[in-house]
Amino acid sequence: MKIAVAEINLEALQHNLLVVKRNAPNSKILAMLKANAYGHGTTEIAKSLHQADAFGVARLSEAVALRAAGITKPIVLLEGFFEADELQIISNLGLDTVLHTEQQFDDFMAADIPRSVRVWLKVDTGMHRLGLPPETFPAIREKISGHKNILGEPILMSHFGCADDVTHSLNDYQFSVFEELQNHHKGECSFANSAAILSFKNSHHQWVRPGIMLYGVSPVNNTSASDYELKPVMTLKSSIIAIREVKKGQSVGYGATWVAKEDTRLAVIAIGYGDGYPRNAENGTPILVNGVKYPLSGRVSMDMISIDIGNEKTIKVGDEAILWGENLPLETIADYAKTVPYELLCGVTGRVEKRFSRVKNEFNNRP
Ligand SMILES: Cc1ncc(COP(=O)(O)O)c(C=O)c1O
Repeated sequence: MKIAVAEINLEALQHNLLVVKRNAPNSKILAMLKANAYGHGTTEIAKSLHQADAFGVARLSEAVALRAAGITKPIVLLEGFFEADELQIISNLGLDTVLHTEQQFDDFMAADIPRSVRVWLKVDTGMHRLGLPPETFPAIREKISGHKNILGEPILMSHFGCADDVTHSLNDYQFSVFEELQNHHKGECSFANSAAILSFKNSHHQWVRPGIMLYGVSPVNNTSASDYELKPVMTLKSSIIAIREVKKGQSVGYGATWVAKEDTRLAVIAIGYGDGYPRNAENGTPILVNGVKYPLSGRVSMDMISIDIGNEKTIKVGDEAILWGENLPLETIADYAKTVPYELLCGVTGRVEKRFSRVKNEFNNRP
């Protein structure tokens, strides 16, 4: 019986990378592997993304783990270093670092490191989360160019705050600030996340930074993955472990939030918030059993959920249930749980077993 398994379809992952390439054919790809590759398993995902040009992580520990697993591609620390002494490891492992504060910039310039390091200068064009103030960029860029610690030319980068909403006015504002920065920068630039890759061709520059689209989820509001030919990479599954009869008026689960409107049958599935299935999922959230959607009925517990299967007599203990993924878009589940697909993917817990599909050997497939 499959109990809380995340099947990871590596062919879908590679297909999604080709969708990135099709949309941004002249750009290099910095594939996002942070947060355990959005919950998919960093090392396996890195090994399958051999067509990516570099990988992006948020923590030094993530980069160290990738190097320990034999990944030799460039790895970019998207928030840079948190302590100046991390620069020794960064230099030794040949990592790239973002610089987004003047303190980081000063520490970088003052460091005594064995090998020079490639630098991504992150400028705040309007999201107001991370980034150097735009007016400081020309002077910082000037000072860092040719410094002994920097490998090559710095790359100018910024990040969109609202690219998922193509009509949002912040996008135009960020574009205008970025354009002005380019007047002070002759080297490579990077601006586009997944949503911008699909919606704003003029944001592509030399490096695009796809995250969520690689994992087969639509990054643009009110669209679905299939609109962009993206295929889900993770399918979360478990099995039915009990079938119960409930009478009209009986409640189900903690808090008695669901009450049977008539005599019915419930199937209990071995998955819960202890696995990363969202506790916020509303009654009625669809769950797929044998190709049919059944509604979540009652509160999500730590290890179990219940669905109302009514009079469907063919369903039995041991049958597989799909919580999201193939034929049940994660975007739909995120809506029912009042969250975003990113959070659901990253929230899959360690007790969920990951099963990676084998990628077909392209040579064996030749006629
Ligand atoms: C700096 C940076 N670039 C790119 C991405 C990828 O974003 P998305 O997953 O929306 O493509 C992220 C993710 O948050 C990010 O922080």
